[in-house]
Amino acid sequence: MLNENRKRELIAIAMEQLKYAYAPYSNFKVGAVLVTKEGKIYKGCNIENAAYTPTNCAERTAFFKAVSEGEREFEAIIIVGGQNGVVTDYTAPCGVCRQVMMEFCNPDEFKIIIAKNENDYKEYSLKQLLPMGFGPDNL
Ligand code: THU
Repeated sequence: MLNENRKRELIAIAMEQLKYAYAPYSNFKVGAVLVTKEGKIYKGCNIENAAYTPTNCAERTAFFKAVSEGEREFEAIIIVGGQNGVVTDYTAPCGVCRQVMMEFCNPDEFKIIIAKNENDYKEYSLKQLLPMGFGPDNL
């Protein structure tokens, strides 16, 4: 369980990630922190590409880092983003990232926290953001 203080810390860590975002084409920088059920964190940023389609969102960067190191159980992801790395609004995960979350997370339990700053954030379940999602249980 993430208490209020921990959420504030995690938002600050996500904000730190903005400086690593590689976004020369959109200039929209995103930072993410993925939290495992054991409380370990994996950080991510968006990584764009001159060919555009290979671009990887911050959320997927964090997921792929974690999964590639053997993690399979996740509690929450914290996301911040903004033009030139200045966060003025909430950044919700794109549809592709929601689908990646669906692969590894229980949609009723996995929490998606989108933040403007350490004191201003919204929290959703994956199910709220991806209703009737298609996942491993459907196969
Ligand atoms: N982006 C993310 O990294 N995560 C999101 O939740 C929204 C979009 C990135 C992709 C691209 O590099 C830039 O933001 C603009 O779409």
